[in-house]
Amino acid sequence: MSNSLRGIRDWLEGPAKNVASQNPRANLVRGAVARLTTPLLPDDYLHLVNPLWSARELRGRIVDVRKETGDSVTLTIRTGWGFTPHYQPGQYIGIGVLLGGRWTWRSYSLTSVPEHQDGRAPSEVSITVKAMAEGFLSSHLVNGVAPGTVVRLQAPAGDFTLPNPLPEKILFLTAGSGITPVMSMLRTLDRRGIPADTDIIAVHSAPDADSALFREELAEFDASHAGVTVRMRYTRETGRLTPGNIGEAVPDWAERETWICGPGAFLSDMEQAWQAKGIFDRLHQERFTVERADVSASGGEVHFAKSDKTIEVDGATTLLEAGEAQGVQMPFGCRMGICQTCVVQLTEGQTRDLRSGDLHVEGERIQTCIAVAVGDCTLDV
Ligand SMILES: Cc1cc2nc3c(=O)[nH]c(=O)nc-3n(C[C@H](O)[C@H](O)[C@H](O)COP(=O)(O)OP(=O)(O)OC[C@H]3O[C@@H](n4cnc5c(N)ncnc54)[C@H](O)[C@@H]3O)c2cc1C
Ligand code: FES
Repeated sequence: MSNSLRGIRDWLEGPAKNVASQNPRANLVRGAVARLTTPLLPDDYLHLVNPLWSARELRGRIVDVRKETGDSVTLTIRTGWGFTPHYQPGQYIGIGVLLGGRWTWRSYSLTSVPEHQDGRAPSEVSITVKAMAEGFLSSHLVNGVAPGTVVRLQAPAGDFTLPNPLPEKILFLTAGSGITPVMSMLRTLDRRGIPADTDIIAVHSAPDADSALFREELAEFDASHAGVTVRMRYTRETGRLTPGNIGEAVPDWAERETWICGPGAFLSDMEQAWQAKGIFDRLHQERFTVERADVSASGGEVHFAKSDKTIEVDGATTLLEAGEAQGVQMPFGCRMGICQTCVVQLTEGQTRDLRSGDLHVEGERIQTCIAVAVGDCTLDV
């Protein structure tokens, strides 16, 4: 081995020198990992060369902001170093935006297709955001974010995806911005080719034609694929889809493997139809919001032990939001109680689960994205 190679090897192994291992290769890997995660890594220098290069976090740059309807936009994001382009249609990403001096994170379903026509992975992804009344980040993304903005990203995740091979009969039920993950599925099916024996019905609800996302593209799918039927439902004219009228809209709905996404009330309502038929396992759901139980919590002083930070919170602020507000590196994924990525240990005090209302006590592991403080508490993060 040349001196320079040995030098690099020694440097990489350095942090693992005192780690007991008989296997030099293991020490090399351990040392390299430590080097890559040590604060000594010149992340900020990388950032100076290219803002999308970071050794410790995924980044992206918004390269296009396109108006879709009066209150929604599609953002095209060029992804930086380390972002896996191999996502599945229907998955979501986390996006962090620097607002008022702190990083604000939300999840958004990808609307893009994970491969080019020739099979290569693209270097851009897209999300479509609908501004929510009083919504902090969505309003900014729809009304204020400029092309060129650098954002932080979380890797694609989620299991609201299609199986391979596809079921013969598929139903997509979407409302409002709930069309987004299904749009990625439809676009990807369109790119890959829809098997001749697959029969897809998509029913998309919106208050009226003007507010319906992707109206023209959906009509095009309907016109250009014999196996795809798209039905737009404008609720101001025809009323909402309910368990009582789903049979009129889609007579064979119970025979179809179904993917549903939309406002929480729409999902909760429609679930009843599948439950009543005993076919709940054929309903695949994506929720954009946490269904909160009627929970009361006092709030209190939350201490983040490892980060040595403390914040006073009310009983409605989740411990994930509380930590982020203090700049604590909180682990998270879906931000709505599904993926378990945000689980940390509650070392002191009590918290309450926003969905179930259950009380958690000292020593338990809690999902910070759906936990609120009941008095003062300490988290091991
Ligand atoms: C897996 C997943 C995928 C998603 N995909 C998409 C997507 O493709 N497109 C999309 O548009 N959204 C999507 N969302 C939702 C998105 O993550 C955000 O929750 C949404 O954009 C709202 O964020 P916000 O910061 O604007 O709202 P927040 O500020 O977090 O507010 C959330 C809600 O609380 C209400 N609120 C805020 N402040 C107050 C207050 N003071 N008093 C009372 N109510 C208040 C708001 O009106 C809003 O309804 C997805 C969510 C998940 C979990
Ligand atoms: S972030 Fe997914 S469960 Fe909390």
